[in-house]
Amino acid sequence: MTRTVYLNGDYLPETEAKVSIFDRGFLMADGVYEVTSVLGGKLIDFAGHCARLRRSLAELDMASPCTDAELLAIHRELVSVNDVTDGMVYLQVTRGNPGDRDFAYPPAETKPTLVLFTQNKPGLADSPSAKTGLKVISVPDVRWGRRDIKTVQLLYPSMAKMMAKAAHVDDAWFVEDGMVTEGTSNNAYIVKGNKIITRALSNDILHGITRAAVLRFAREAQMEVEERNFTIEEAQRADEAFITSASAFVTPVVEIDGAPVGAGTAGKVAARLREIYLEEMHKAAI
Ligand SMILES: Cc1ncc(COP(=O)(O)O)c(C=O)c1O
Repeated sequence: MTRTVYLNGDYLPETEAKVSIFDRGFLMADGVYEVTSVLGGKLIDFAGHCARLRRSLAELDMASPCTDAELLAIHRELVSVNDVTDGMVYLQVTRGNPGDRDFAYPPAETKPTLVLFTQNKPGLADSPSAKTGLKVISVPDVRWGRRDIKTVQLLYPSMAKMMAKAAHVDDAWFVEDGMVTEGTSNNAYIVKGNKIITRALSNDILHGITRAAVLRFAREAQMEVEERNFTIEEAQRADEAFITSASAFVTPVVEIDGAPVGAGTAGKVAARLREIYLEEMHKAAI
């Protein structure tokens, strides 16, 4: 089935949506994005994704293509016309097409490019990895210094995913100055007893929308949350480890660099947090 996608005000068949070769997103990776999950035909934590999009745009002095209400309407229309029950909506804003290549930002009146498309993922919330857990390797974090901005510069995360694939594992955790920053496309956590440990927010990691929700639910469930750095060795010795992201929700990590975490099987805390997260998010979906 040909998807209907959104490009700068138009709903088009995916084969007809065209962006200029001078687009700053194409030439400079000068763009930001968001991925919102869809469960049961409804958007998960849309407000959180909108808020982070606004922040990313502001940090890059990039014009906003439309209001949050307009973005919501576009998301809903795409979910509806593409008949998405479970899946995601990908949104990207770039600094647009100034008509030539130049390092300097183009004049403010250059119209940003806004692209949205859906991805169908039947059974998104029932992924087998929720039960089996993920195996990860550690790789050096050589990304740029503003990882808090959700830009489309995803080459190194792609390379790290390929390193994981070559090592016959599921994913990679980035390590900088001996400390875990985050996963290639997710935030990283360890569990010790009743305590959940994850790196504090800074420019070193993406401020995960799922992270914010999961830590809130964990505190509400009387779990202790400690926001601090940890090493791969500490993670290997922890009771449990897990990751969070908008499309993986809460997913256990059972092996790091070949060493089992805890019993080497999916842990109870991660399972409980996943359950609470999905339950609460289903209730609040729009
Ligand atoms: C580097 C990185 N960290 C964390 C996350 C998780 O963020 P969220 O929970 O908002 O999906 C992502 C998601 O794409 C990511 O790319």
